[in-house]
Amino acid sequence: MMFTETGTDLQKAADFLRKGELVAIPTETVYGLAANALNEDAVLKIYAAKNRPRFNPLILHVSGLSQAQAFVKDIPEEAYQLANAFWPGPLTLLLPKSALVPDLVTAGSDRVAIRVPDHRLTLQLLQEIQLPLAAPSANPSGYVSPTTAEHVAAGLSGQIPYILDGGACQVGLESTIVGWNEAGKTEIYRLGGITSEAIEEVVGHPVPISKKITENPDTPGQLKSHYATHTPLYIGDAGQLAGSFAGMKIILIRFKELHPGFPAEQQLVLAPTGTKEEAACNLFRILRQADAQEAEVILAEALPDEGIGKAVNDRLERAQHLMK
Ligand code: TXA
Ligand code: MG
Repeated sequence: MMFTETGTDLQKAADFLRKGELVAIPTETVYGLAANALNEDAVLKIYAAKNRPRFNPLILHVSGLSQAQAFVKDIPEEAYQLANAFWPGPLTLLLPKSALVPDLVTAGSDRVAIRVPDHRLTLQLLQEIQLPLAAPSANPSGYVSPTTAEHVAAGLSGQIPYILDGGACQVGLESTIVGWNEAGKTEIYRLGGITSEAIEEVVGHPVPISKKITENPDTPGQLKSHYATHTPLYIGDAGQLAGSFAGMKIILIRFKELHPGFPAEQQLVLAPTGTKEEAACNLFRILRQADAQEAEVILAEALPDEGIGKAVNDRLERAQHLMK
């Protein structure tokens, strides 16, 4: 065990990273668990701290498009369009990697996932150290992603020396991952902070969402049990579901307002002002809150399946109780 400090000291964060240590960093999506991507010993510490399977590759975080160009090659025109439209921001591009990217970062794949995060502190950090940072979400593998420094500490305290505290994440869901298949066609591999509608508007044609579920992903974000609460979670209509769990202590997660048929103290509302963006921003915090209550079951109602509502529903589905 080591002492984990939380603070806002960029120099300290930079020094730890230069020395090959891990630092949790704020981004607009979720907190990342960062290491110098060019130092394999440092990258190995990420897999160890998260207890992450070695076949699950890491996203490279860079300061801008020009730095990104050193680590990828054969960039399609649409990748430039998307990078110009959304970077810095919650979009990850999956592109052929250059020789500079260690195989450990991509888990042996010849493609690397890369993005420019939109957070003032982390952009300053990236500019200061001039190194690419490999960073998965800063949670123990399989649990809900962290959107505050406190969430990171709750999962990783004692395993990392420093958490750079940049406040609560503004988007609250992980980045959208876009790549190009063997036929050169654009695909969305993981829904996230940038909506599929916004991506289609930039490239000017429909972009399919790849729904292939695999336990050994050569496509991203598709491990079955991800983002899961400890308390089993089920999605559906609250009234109908409640019948199936009669006599059990229930926590209900609602989109906009309280359900008249349940006690208020058993409900959590994702978006008090009623926007889907607000629901996305609060989702992971509310899932953690629901998990912290002594409930036997969490019931969640899906959002309207459009815009960022699709990404929220995707995360709820992944949190849903399967055969565990
Ligand atoms: O918003 C985000 O994307 C956050 C912040 C920290 O940037 N990061 C994040 O990382 O969500 P992670 O590791 O929790 O999720 C990244 C997903 C994983 O499902 C991984 O399998 C996939 O991206 N991925 C990363 N590199 C890949 C690669 N080279 N090929 C295929 N999938 C990849
Ligand atoms: Mg993750």
